Amino acid sequence: MQTTSSNTNSNTNTLCKLFAINFPIIQAGMVWAAGGKLAAACSNAGILGLIGAGSMSPALLREHILKAKSLTSGNFGVNIPLLYQGAKEQIQVALSCGVKIFFTSAGSPKNYTPYLKDKGATVVHVTSTPELAIKCQEAGVDAVVAEGFEAGGHNGRDEITTMVLIPQVVQAVKIPVIAAGGVVNGAGIAAAFALGAQAVQMGTAFVATMESSAHPNFKNLLLQSKADSTMLALKKLVPVRLFKNCFYQQVKELEERGASAEELQQLLGKGRAKLGMFEGDMVHGELEIGQGCALLKDTPAIAELVARLKQEYQDAVAALPSF
Ligand SMILES: Cc1cc2nc3c(=O)[nH]c(=O)nc-3n(C[C@H](O)[C@H](O)[C@H](O)COP(=O)(O)O)c2cc1C
Repeated sequence: MQTTSSNTNSNTNTLCKLFAINFPIIQAGMVWAAGGKLAAACSNAGILGLIGAGSMSPALLREHILKAKSLTSGNFGVNIPLLYQGAKEQIQVALSCGVKIFFTSAGSPKNYTPYLKDKGATVVHVTSTPELAIKCQEAGVDAVVAEGFEAGGHNGRDEITTMVLIPQVVQAVKIPVIAAGGVVNGAGIAAAFALGAQAVQMGTAFVATMESSAHPNFKNLLLQSKADSTMLALKKLVPVRLFKNCFYQQVKELEERGASAEELQQLLGKGRAKLGMFEGDMVHGELEIGQGCALLKDTPAIAELVARLKQEYQDAVAALPSF
């Protein structure tokens, strides 16, 4: 395993070299929050930006890719959740626009990895268990994101926390591991590296930035959140970590009554996540966010956030007690 200091040195960090970035931080692809503007700002700040294709039609994805290209000459990628029907077409659009970095999630790594590798792309798949990490490696991915229970968005069923998941995935595979879930500051990055990750993927912290396309109401709400502001819900459909607003309370009541998947799907309906995260309805919308929201204090610009993360990381490492 690499040492902590070599993990952050872009000359030696495997993932910095793979993605051609300066700092081993990946801005997560996120529905309704991660468009071309955010991805380009991240690339300009020396980290890897990802466009979250999950909430976009193929045509809109093309627009966001072209926008990002007009705003940066740096590398950026796309996140394609494989559970949505449009995934195949999104992949075609991204390839036709010259995107070379694909983070796939919520599906089998076998589905598209060989195809994307044939096209010369770099492929990373998201896993929430060591067993799936091994399958990702067998499918030929370049790296895995190991995402723990603290994470915002869709989540693993088995509630494996980042602290416990990362060392197991690092042991299980030979490819580089990117830690995700609960990392919102430099101390979190240091902790992830100590566990054996070579980079971090951060979502929640990037929702609350100036360049994210999340609605200002959502960003402001996050600044008031507490340690218990989120909960994993909708396990009968696709498990997702939600901010505890009125919509979440309705989900909870149904779940406590033992509602079926069909009833939950009926309550969820269509467009809930857009209504909340993008259109700013904090009462009725679905608000996907990680436990780490309790640690957010402001909504910085990306350049400021990345500089801060670097400083916090160095301070955290310097402050480690001797053993
Ligand atoms: C608002 C939001 C939307 C997300 N959407 C996606 C998505 O479309 N695809 C995906 O693979 N992960 C998605 N995620 C998960 C992130 O990619 C990332 O792994 C996670 O946020 C990391 O944990 P953190 O939130 O504690 O930083 C989302 C997370 C958030 C907070």
